[in-house]
Amino acid sequence: MKRSFAELFSNTANKLQVSVIRELLKLTQKPEVISFAGGLPNPDAFPVPQIHEICPGVIDNPNALQYGTTEGVPELREALRKRMATKNVKCEIENIQITSGSQQALDILGRILLNPNDIVLTTCPTYLGAIQAFDFQSPRYELVEMDENSVIVEDFEARLEDIQKRGELNRLKFFYVTPTFHNPAGVTIPEKRRRQIIELCNAYDILVIEDDPYGELRYRGEDQPLLKSLDTEDRVVYLSTFSKILVPGFRIAWMVAPTDLIKKFIMAKQAVDLCTTTFTQYIGAEYLSRGYVDQHIKKIKEIYGRKMHIMLRSMAEYFPEEAQYAEPDGGMFVWVRLPEHINTIEIFPKVVEKNVAYVVGSAFYPNGKGLNTMRLNFTHPTDEKIEEGVKRLGNVLHEILK
Ligand SMILES: Cc1ncc(COP(=O)(O)O)c(C=O)c1O
Repeated sequence: MKRSFAELFSNTANKLQVSVIRELLKLTQKPEVISFAGGLPNPDAFPVPQIHEICPGVIDNPNALQYGTTEGVPELREALRKRMATKNVKCEIENIQITSGSQQALDILGRILLNPNDIVLTTCPTYLGAIQAFDFQSPRYELVEMDENSVIVEDFEARLEDIQKRGELNRLKFFYVTPTFHNPAGVTIPEKRRRQIIELCNAYDILVIEDDPYGELRYRGEDQPLLKSLDTEDRVVYLSTFSKILVPGFRIAWMVAPTDLIKKFIMAKQAVDLCTTTFTQYIGAEYLSRGYVDQHIKKIKEIYGRKMHIMLRSMAEYFPEEAQYAEPDGGMFVWVRLPEHINTIEIFPKVVEKNVAYVVGSAFYPNGKGLNTMRLNFTHPTDEKIEEGVKRLGNVLHEILK
């Protein structure tokens, strides 16, 4: 082989970098490390008996072992249409598209909506997987600040005004946001702000991608309306997934979107995987129609709510005052902001030495900022490990800040 792979790879592939985060996470693979780094559901909370019960019937269904349509299995789409109606999202089955995880929806939406140099408006920080998906199309990011109530509407409006002043509104393709239990920031947009955001999107004619993998995981407080439920102009594309309310390994998720967008989406998805795994789609359909999903959500809310409480209680006890964090009401993460002079990449080896780990927060900033932040996951470790890990992390932080 004479030519190197670097010569063979596309320009886009050559731009892909080994992530610092991935390298750091390698340090956390030892069994003695208590890791708050992953974003994983707890395997003890998987609904294994229900899956056992559903599977034999699915195996006997030849359609479940065959290629399916690119749109997705009709039984699953119909069950999801009914479920969305309970959340005040009224749509037709044609508006429901099944995807191989929400991650695939992000990838394909990027492919069909973005040209190089187009603008993606998103929060600061934002979901790392969305940056990775959109980056393939080389967009620019315009970032909106958040506070403990998520998106700051005044800043959102200021960004839109800026883009308009520059004459670039036509390059702005969408606003990507996780309104409920944000990954990584843990925060939720209250109803009033949601209404204001929708009004601004109407005024500026902006498409919204509402990414909602955690909305069902509320452990306290009141549900907030989906942006999609407030959408009167069919400008919100809604994404959700079975990864957190069934199992992530099935790779089934759904999108609710206008039919014109779905038509193009289907053409692109055909090129990617023809169809999402039919077998797990049929399991998902049964899981919904037998009513197991709500029983299961109730169970995981108890488990994860307890874990969140343990993490917050332990942080209050062991973390130095200088570590700031907003207490989430659900989801899987607590987001921590340290004083500006602390760099969470630099202190990471010191922390891992004490056998505890986090994700460095700068990974979630498309502009390389957020060096003083970290994300902590509370759903995966055992209750005992949460307390012990927070204690160890708190001790290292005390030492560093001394
Ligand atoms: C905000 C957000 N969007 C999308 C995804 C991807 O989910 P899926 O497993 O459905 O691909 C995740 C996964 O953690 C997430 O946190």
